[in-house]
Amino acid sequence: MTYFDLKHVPKNEVVATFELTPCNKGVASKVALESSVGTWTGVKGTVEKLKAKVFYMKKGFIKIGYPVELFEKGNLPQLLSSVAGNIFGMKVLNSLKLVNLDFPKGYVQFFKGPAFGLQGVLEYYGISERPVLGTIVKPKIGLNERNHAKRAYESWIGGMDFVKDDENLTSMRFNNFEKRVVEVLKIQKKAERETGSKKLYAFNVTASVSEMIERAKFVKKNGGRCVMIDVLTAGIGAVQELRNANLGLIIHAHRAMHAAIGRGSFGIDFLVWCKLLRLAGVDQLHAGTVVGKMKGDRQDVFGCYNFLRKKWLSIKPVMPVASGGLHPGHVPFLVENFGIEVVFQFGGGVHGHPFGTVSGSRAVVQAVQASINRVRLKNYAEKHEELKQALKKWSR
Ligand code: 3PG
Ligand code: 3PG
Ligand code: MG
Repeated sequence: MTYFDLKHVPKNEVVATFELTPCNKGVASKVALESSVGTWTGVKGTVEKLKAKVFYMKKGFIKIGYPVELFEKGNLPQLLSSVAGNIFGMKVLNSLKLVNLDFPKGYVQFFKGPAFGLQGVLEYYGISERPVLGTIVKPKIGLNERNHAKRAYESWIGGMDFVKDDENLTSMRFNNFEKRVVEVLKIQKKAERETGSKKLYAFNVTASVSEMIERAKFVKKNGGRCVMIDVLTAGIGAVQELRNANLGLIIHAHRAMHAAIGRGSFGIDFLVWCKLLRLAGVDQLHAGTVVGKMKGDRQDVFGCYNFLRKKWLSIKPVMPVASGGLHPGHVPFLVENFGIEVVFQFGGGVHGHPFGTVSGSRAVVQAVQASINRVRLKNYAEKHEELKQALKKWSR
C-alpha cells in the first residue's frame, strides 16, 4: 500500500486540500507521508492503516485523507502539527498552501464550539434588523485608562453597540489592564443608562495562558461580558483554554499575524483558521472586508463569511467581523455584500472624523440607515452633517 491512491474513497477521515508546486505523484506522496506516519526513509513497523492517502490530484491541487485515529480528540495544536507541520519546510516543494480542511463527525464531536455564537451575540444586544456596529479605541495604544474609557463612552453615545481594545493593547505601564476594565465598565453602565441600549466591550486578554485566564476572570468578576484574544499570536491551544474555562464570556477573536501565515506561497488559507476557530469556540471572528486596508480576495473572504454563518453539525455559527481601514463610505458595499448578520468595525473611520468620536459614530449609523433603506449616501448626507463630513474626508 502506498500514500497515493486515486481510487481511495475517504471514510471517517480528515481531508486536507493543498495547492502545491510541483504537483506530481512523487511530491504529493511525500506530503502525505510526512504529515502522517512516515519520514524521509522507510522504517520498519510503519502501521499501514494509519497512512494518509492522496486520493485526488488536478490542476495544482491535491486532496489527502487522514484516518481520524491520527488525531487526538479535541486537540487542535496536534492536528496542525500533522497537517500543517513539517511539510511546509520540505525541500521538494516550491510552494504549498493548505487551502481547506474537512472534518468527519467523529472529529467534530469532541469540540464545544462557540458558547454564544452569532445568534447569542445578536440576542445580547436585541438587534435583528441591522448589523452590529463597532469600533476599536484609537489611537490604538498610548491613551491612559481614563481617556481610553472616555473614547469608548463617546463611541457608545454616538451610536456604536460594540467597542474593543486593539490587538497590541494588553496591560501597559500607561494603560493597566485591571484599571482599564474598571474604568470602561463604569462608563459602559452610564452609556447604557443614557442611550437605553445594551452595549458591549471586548477587553484584550492576550498574554501567557495562565495570565490570560486570570484577566478573563477579572473581566467576569467586574461584570464584563466579553473578552478578546489575538488567536494566532496567542495560539490555538490558548484559544481552546479560554473557551474551556467556560466563563460565560463572549469571545472576540482578532486574527493579527494571519497574513504572515497565509499571504505568501507557503501557508494556510484563512478558511482553515475559520474552521479551527469555530471548533475551538470563538463567538466573533475578524474575517475580512474586501474593501479597506487589508488584502483579501473577494472569493476567499466570501468563502469565510459563508462558512462561519452556515450550519455545521452541532457547532454554532460564528459572528463574522469586518474590520480594517473601513469608513462610512464603505457601508453600502458592506451591507450589499455581507448583509446584516455581521459586525462592522471602524477604528480610524470613527475616531478620525473631523468633529471627533461622537460625530464619527453618528456618521457610521447614518451610513447604515441609508444603506439599509437603499438611499444613496450622497443624498442622505444632504440632511446629515456628520455623514457629509465623513464622506468629504474619506470618499473620493
Ligand atoms: C521533527 O519534528 O523535527 C521531524 O519529525 C523530523 O523528522 P525526521 O528526522 O524523520 O525528518
Ligand atoms: C482592527 O483591529 O480591526 C483594527 O484596529 C481596525 O482599525 P481601523 O479601522 O483603524 O483600520
Ligand atoms: Mg487593530
